[in-house]
Amino acid sequence: MKLPPSARFSTVCIHAGQEPDPGTGAIVTPIFQTSTYVQEELGKHKGYEYARTQNPTRAALEANIAAIERGKAAFAFASGMAAIDAISTFLRSGDHVVVTDNTYGGTFRLFDKVLTRYGLEFSYIDTSSADAIERSMRKNTKMVFVETPTNPVMRLTDISAAAAVAHRHDARLVVDNTFASPAVQQPIAFGADLVIHSTTKYLNGHSDSVGGVVVATRDDDVEWLTFIQNAAGAILGPLDSWLVLRGTKTLTVRMAQHNANGLALAEFLSTHPKVTRVLYPGLPAHPQHDLAKRQMNGFGGMLSFDVGTFELARCVCNRVRLMSLAESLGGVETLISHPATMTHASVPPERRREIGLTDSLVRISAGIEDPADLIDDLKQALG
Ligand SMILES: Cc1ncc(COP(=O)(O)O)c(C=O)c1O
Repeated sequence: MKLPPSARFSTVCIHAGQEPDPGTGAIVTPIFQTSTYVQEELGKHKGYEYARTQNPTRAALEANIAAIERGKAAFAFASGMAAIDAISTFLRSGDHVVVTDNTYGGTFRLFDKVLTRYGLEFSYIDTSSADAIERSMRKNTKMVFVETPTNPVMRLTDISAAAAVAHRHDARLVVDNTFASPAVQQPIAFGADLVIHSTTKYLNGHSDSVGGVVVATRDDDVEWLTFIQNAAGAILGPLDSWLVLRGTKTLTVRMAQHNANGLALAEFLSTHPKVTRVLYPGLPAHPQHDLAKRQMNGFGGMLSFDVGTFELARCVCNRVRLMSLAESLGGVETLISHPATMTHASVPPERRREIGLTDSLVRISAGIEDPADLIDDLKQALG
């Protein structure tokens, strides 16, 4: 199998990094569940010495995701948070980072509760405004860390504009592309230097693995991440690498249905009398709908809606039958959650208020079921 350089996105997802196993011809990369590799004689081996450093299943996944995100190389980690932690090793004590104010709660917790202990400084700002990013840049700013769309209020950042500001100040632009997935958004094409994912979400897509990945574009970053992945050792195991690799093969078809279901639910909710606000970039009423059309290919499967009171939000979350009340997102099954008490409970209430994350907000990760069944479920839960 030879992947032509002109191969399109879905072909790349299925074939990049995938060579039939040279020993057996197995078409699917095997799970190399081993901790070490036999050496023929001293100093003579097949390129594999110890499985923290190299594992063929992980290497196949990394080559696959690097091609999907159009980066130079990818590095798979034990979770999305481990991937973000690996990114932080680019920084030194005294460095400053500009971060999307409405970043994932776990990212805020890592930055605010752990990394500030090592002399790193963070400014949380509304990165949907390039002017606000510009105003927050300091002499010691080394990184701009952006999440777009944000979780759960679905605010977008213009990636090209953010890259222009970061690069003018000699800083790296990092984009957490978890919410959109590379089928919907390609940050490197807009100037991002590093892309991270929680592979737990759309890349795996089946809610059966926890993992993370960093995609790099610069040679010096590739060299450093190769070093840090081995030095710190928070690698993705072979079984999880295999599960994510199986997931990326169907990314294009899954995302098409996630996009369709996300839009169908958003349109239904925006006509429901008990719903006061629907946050979905695919709706013309979304304040950044034009940017979404420019920057995204489809609008994703994530949406949030406000029902006015905490009581009603609780009622909806408890009354759904087909949807499951659970944290996480990006799987084939539809999940519903209450961000203020679940995913974003670690974000202080005043910060939640600032970003519009009310106690009456409900979030949905639209799966790939028949959308009519999902709408029926929401109808009965809201009724
Ligand atoms: C946008 C985003 N980034 C990062 C993470 C962290 O990923 P993980 O749970 O795999 O550590 C999450 C988890 O929900 C997320 O939603």
